[in-house]
Amino acid sequence: MSSYHGMIRAMNDSLPQFIKLAKVGDFSETRIKSFSIVAKPVAIVKDPDGTFWATEIGCKHNNFDLTCAPFKGDEVRCPRHGWIYNIRSGECLNQNSAPLRRHLLEVRGEDIYVSLTPESEVVEDDDDDWAFEVQINRKPAE
Ligand code: FES
Repeated sequence: MSSYHGMIRAMNDSLPQFIKLAKVGDFSETRIKSFSIVAKPVAIVKDPDGTFWATEIGCKHNNFDLTCAPFKGDEVRCPRHGWIYNIRSGECLNQNSAPLRRHLLEVRGEDIYVSLTPESEVVEDDDDDWAFEVQINRKPAE
C-alpha cells in the first residue's frame, strides 16, 4: 500500500479535490492496487476493457485492506471476521453494513487521479443533535 498521508497534511490549507495516485502503466500486470488516503485504504481497479474506477477498500468492520484478501470475481471475503463485499456495487453481502463508497477517478494522460473523499459522504448523527437542540429551544405553543 502506498501512503500519501504526509503529502496531504503538508497541503493543509489548499487541499486539492483530486490527488495523483498512480500511472496507467502500474496496472499492466494487476487488476487492483490499494493506496492510503488519510489513513483509509482506497483501491484503483482496472476492468478488462481498460476502464479504471476507485473505491473505498477498507472493511467497514475494522478498516482491513481488502486487497490483501482473495477475490472471486468482484466478491471478496474479509479474512478477519468474514464480512463479504461486492466491491463493484460496494454492498456488504452478509452484514447490515454501510457500503464501500466510490471515489471519483480521472485519467489524465498516463496519470490516474482520485478524489480525496468518496462521492457521497454520509452525514452521521449530527442531525439528531441538531434536532434535539431545536426541540429544547422551541418556545411552548401559546
Ligand atoms: S475487519 Fe473485516 S470482518 Fe472484521
